Amino acid sequence: MQHSVADHPPTAPVHSFVDDVERLLDAHARDHDPDLIVQAVQRRLTALLASEGVLEPADRIPWADHYRPHLLTVAPSRRFSVMALIWAPEQVTPIHDHICWCVVGVLEGLEREQRFSLRQNDDGQRWLAPTTDVMVNPGEISRLTPPEENIHQVRNAGDALAISLHIYGADISVCGSSVNQCFDDLPIRADTAATPQTFVSWRGS
Ligand SMILES: [Fe+2]
Repeated sequence: MQHSVADHPPTAPVHSFVDDVERLLDAHARDHDPDLIVQAVQRRLTALLASEGVLEPADRIPWADHYRPHLLTVAPSRRFSVMALIWAPEQVTPIHDHICWCVVGVLEGLEREQRFSLRQNDDGQRWLAPTTDVMVNPGEISRLTPPEENIHQVRNAGDALAISLHIYGADISVCGSSVNQCFDDLPIRADTAATPQTFVSWRGS
């Protein structure tokens, strides 16, 4: 998935957010616990979502053919990136997992997030079992923390523009995308009492 890159410096709210998250990551540098990091980032992102002037008008323009991943900035330390995803109605991601921790907050509009768990039977056949299905409103946040699978699909569930802010624990300007792999070719089956108890770990490794 290609992404666009902001042609201007970060807005004041985003600049302040990046400074604060740099300090948060410094404070948690010895923890080596992604969950503590994403909880701290979540608290700071909640404040950013309530700020005025987070995005320039040019950052809000959607693409016609699919949702637009728009890189706002990469932290000076290169430890994380701030992206805005701009969704026209009905635009949707593939079913995918991630290369890093992610904290996602809806800035405006309505998004639907469906999560899945990867299953495998003794014959090596794989499928996805739905786990959660939530609507995410402005100001609400979703966390994706390895080593959980974090396989999900996100769509604009409203009839207006949707915008979400995505904080990724990686330098997206180098790796190009937060997506690890896509699972759209797998069937989707709900768990039953007969579901094999063989689970494929995160990243299928
Ligand atoms: Fe994702």
